[in-house]
Amino acid sequence: MMIELEHFRMAYDDLGQGRPLVLVHGFPLSRAIWPAQAAQLSAHYRVLAPDLRGHGDSEATPGPYTMDLLADDILALLEALQIDQPIVLGGLSMGGYVVMAFARRYPERLAGLLLTATRAGSDTSAGKDGRRQAVAAVQQAGNIQPTVDGMLPKLFAPQTYSDNPNLVQKVRRIIEHTSMDGVINAQLGMLARPDSTAMLSNLDVPSLVIHGEHDQIIPLEAAQEMASVLSNGSMAVIKGAGHLLNMEQPAEFNQIVMDWLAGL
Ligand code: MLT
Repeated sequence: MMIELEHFRMAYDDLGQGRPLVLVHGFPLSRAIWPAQAAQLSAHYRVLAPDLRGHGDSEATPGPYTMDLLADDILALLEALQIDQPIVLGGLSMGGYVVMAFARRYPERLAGLLLTATRAGSDTSAGKDGRRQAVAAVQQAGNIQPTVDGMLPKLFAPQTYSDNPNLVQKVRRIIEHTSMDGVINAQLGMLARPDSTAMLSNLDVPSLVIHGEHDQIIPLEAAQEMASVLSNGSMAVIKGAGHLLNMEQPAEFNQIVMDWLAGL
């Protein structure tokens, strides 16, 4: 589905009925990472999965796309759909950074937080340099191939590459669908994001951290650190999974999420 927001047309999926569960994808991906969650969780919840601006089928705009801006896009979607009941907001990786920005700005809108394959900290100076180099490589190439080549070998647990090559190819196509504006402006936005540790430690919203044992992009320790500051949180680790744990091990991921949602 497409919806006209103030600055761009946003693509999103809207499935099922009940308490809204909004799922925000990571970088440089799209709502196409959530099919297994949308299929199963929409039996009990209204699952909304947007494409962030510049990603998937959503229009790109000039950037940078700060996490605050992307969080405001989620709010704009809720307002456009006239959803005013508290939502469960979930995000994977960069989607988690967007979720934290949303929680900082609109905590009263939240019934729960799902933080998947993400971290609370801001970028180190080496991390910022890495993003600037990644942006320069894309600008120089004139296409996003350097990002495809840089990200794809890190998105999964080592075993997923041999056990599930179809999934790897599927995710390659999802990345290739991301616009150049999306890749560049999201990197610049992530680079500028603040540390969310203090915000999370003051947040009184039930929160679940889920992380893959073999995440090669965000180490398990970073997620454990984030979970340790939550006053109302718990954590689950999926063995043998990497950064895209919801796609690598959808049945286990969904079970953990459904058990947690049932207890809210
Ligand atoms: C993501 O997977 O969303 C990003 O790689 C996270 C990041 O670059 O920090």
